Formats: sequence, structure tokens, C-alpha cells
Amino acid sequence: MRSSITIKKKIGKFNKTIHVSGDKSLSIRWALLASQAKGRSRAYNLLKSLDVISTLNCLKKLGIKVKFKKNYCEIESSGLNSFREKKNIILNAGNSGTLGRLILGLLVHYNNKIKIIGDKSLSKRDFSRVTAPLKKFGASFNYKNKFKLPVEIIGLNNAKPIKYFETKGSAQCKSSVMLAALNTKGETIIKAKKSRNHTEILFKYLKIPIKIKKEKNFDLIKIKGEHQFNGFNYNIPSDISSSAFFIVLTLLSKESQLTIKNVNVNPSRVGIITILKKMGAKIVLKNKKIHNGEKIADISIKSTKNIKAINCPKNLNSQAIDEFLLIFLVAAKAKGISSFKDLSELNQKESPRLKLGSKILNLMGIKTILTSSSIKIFGSPNMKIKKIVKIENYLKDHRIFMMSVIAALSIGGHWKIFDPDSIKTSFPDFLKLISKLKDNKI
Ligand code: S3P
Repeated sequence: MRSSITIKKKIGKFNKTIHVSGDKSLSIRWALLASQAKGRSRAYNLLKSLDVISTLNCLKKLGIKVKFKKNYCEIESSGLNSFREKKNIILNAGNSGTLGRLILGLLVHYNNKIKIIGDKSLSKRDFSRVTAPLKKFGASFNYKNKFKLPVEIIGLNNAKPIKYFETKGSAQCKSSVMLAALNTKGETIIKAKKSRNHTEILFKYLKIPIKIKKEKNFDLIKIKGEHQFNGFNYNIPSDISSSAFFIVLTLLSKESQLTIKNVNVNPSRVGIITILKKMGAKIVLKNKKIHNGEKIADISIKSTKNIKAINCPKNLNSQAIDEFLLIFLVAAKAKGISSFKDLSELNQKESPRLKLGSKILNLMGIKTILTSSSIKIFGSPNMKIKKIVKIENYLKDHRIFMMSVIAALSIGGHWKIFDPDSIKTSFPDFLKLISKLKDNKI
């Protein structure tokens, strides 16, 4: 692929219906849970992105059979604790924090040394957030660089259930402990700040003994381990985080309309919709249904001229955690000053997104006030970009690249955006789908 793309023209009017690729969180979770199911499992509409391919490659190294057929992916396993135990296995989690952190949960019971490595971006991210609770099950960890990959895990046969208090609102931390609990005899108890709940929904769908008590800001989760479940088929709906790029493109473009079919609108993921509606967006959910416990709908959106600034409620942060770059872009076009707080977690992503989001807005001529956990954005509804905007994506963050493309197409100006290759992580069809909207090539 090219090392950069240049955009010099806004996208014209469009009125289309599109399908966006499968949800990344669900694709990774399906594969990890299928590796613990007895028999064959199939996923339809599995996302074929590098993060998911890395997941399947890790499982293959652990002796799990993976096959791709024309319209499904099949995993075959002999069930709980059936990973092949071999010396000196190295698992490469690539760019995926979800894979790196969740698979460690399954490896708590791996009775041998195993090493997890990742790419440059993943190797800058903190792993103590999962290895600290996993240690309490009895596993040991060795790091070369303080709490950064590579990490070696040494698991054990007789792990003990734990009590764990998750305070960051991180679904990765919660899910890693849930996967460790799956293979651990006895009851693991998790008190978790609200975050995406796909793992809980899948556990219920698979009839794994789980009890969930919802409190205002926390969920109390109890899991009884060592329950063997059978292979299962799963239809993966479209990813709201990928859809979000198209939602914002439509919102900020002129006289356009878009429908995105069959999107996962799990309430723990729809912060982008709630926030944009508060800012004046016209978004409608149609054909709502529930499939395998997950809510699904078609999302329809129209362009909006008058976007209002927002003082974003903190309780929406975890529901929109992967969409803030796009939300900052909308705030840049809004009338008034928008304010976002308690977002230090954004700097823990594939790149420091709070800092880089602010930097991109500044390059566009937008004033921001940035701290380590908050940002104020001084919106400019009539902004015109005068200088060339160059986006050097040194950690190849897929969402930085895609947000910049949406900014260029909706706001205009002359943009040079590096690392189109990064889209392979989560949304390989992103540029193709953009071209389809307006039959324009970029
Ligand atoms: C994810 C959880 C979120 C999110 C990531 C995917 C998941 O991370 O940013 O892209 O699938 O569990 P945190 O749990 O660290 O917030």
C-alpha cells in the first residue's frame, strides 16, 4: 500500500445504504471462547482484520484447529484447558490490546512458560492492569521492561478463584479476569466499573454459570468456573466503532443521508449516538432486534448544519471510548466550547489519543485546552483550513488515520495522511467503502 494518501476535496452529496464489517470485540471474543468450547464452533461475518487474524494465529499455536470456509470461520477444540503445552511458545498479539490482555486470562492455567509479544504500539502499553489481578489466581509473570510487552506467563493447574475490583471501566481488564474464572474451580467475584458487556452476554448465551447484579456505576459479577460448554455458531453484527466514521462523515457533510445495516447497538457501546444526538444530530435506529443477546439495528443519519457544543457527561466515556477522536472532530465544527473530562484512559490506547486528537485539531486551526485527562475544544462552525495538514502517524494508529480521512473529506482543505496500511488492524474495507459512497477514488 501507499505510504500516505492526499485529499484535496470535500466529499460531495451522497444518499446510500451500506454494510460495515463485523464487530472486532465480538470477533476476538468468539474466537477465544470457541477455543474453550467442546467441539466445532462457527462464526459468520467474522471480521477479517489483522487483530482477528492475530487471535486465530495465537490459538493455532496453542493447538486449536482453525479453518476458513467461504462464508464462515470454524474453530475446533476439545474444550476447557485443552491448549497444547509446549516449551518456548511465543504468541504475537500484533497491535491488539484486546487479544494480548484477554488471552492472558486463558493462559492462567497453562502449565508451562509462554511469552506474549506485540508490535511497537502494543509494546508501549501497560499490562500490569491485567497481570496484577491474574497474579492473584496464582500465575507468575516476568517482564523485561516494567509492565510492557514482552511478558512471560507461567500458569498453574490449581488456580484459586479471586475477588477483583475493576476501577478503570476497562472491558479488557474485566474480560481477562472473566476468562481466567472460566477455567478456575470455585466462584470468582468481580466488581467492575461499567464498560462494554459483550463477554457477560456471551457467557449467558453459552449458559456458563454467571450472575450479574447491576448497581448505579458498577456491576457485580459472579462466575462459577469449570463449566464445560459445547461448540456454538455465532453471527457477528457490524461494528459500531467502524460505523462511527461513516456516521460522522454524513453528519458533517452537505445534504447527505446514510443507512448502515445490521449494526451492534449494545447499550454499552452507543455513547457516540447519545453524544451526537445531544449535539443536534439526527440519528434514527430502525429494525431493532436482539440476536444472541446482542442488540442490533439499522442506523440512519442525515447531515446537520447546526451542531451544538457539549459538556460531555463522564458517565458516557466508556460507552464511546473508541470514538472520541471523531467526537472531538464534531466538537471542532460545533458552535461554542465543548468540554470532555476524566479521559486519561484515551492516552492508554494504540496511541495517546487525547494528546494526538488535540494536536490534529490544532493543525486544523482549532483552539484547544488540553490536560492529562481533559480537553476543551473551541468550535468553529465555518472553519476553513488554509495550511496543508500533514498527519504523521508514528504509532500507525488505525483510528488516527481514519479520523483524519473523515476530517479531510468533511471539512475540506489539503491533507496528507500517512499510514493507510493501519486500517488493516480493524477495518480493512474502510477506503473501499468511502470510494463506494460517492463513487470517488482517494
Ligand atoms: C475493548 C475494550 C476497550 C476498547 C478496545 C476494545 C474490548 O478497551 O478501547 O478497543 O474489546 O474489550 P479498554 O477495555 O481498555 O477500555
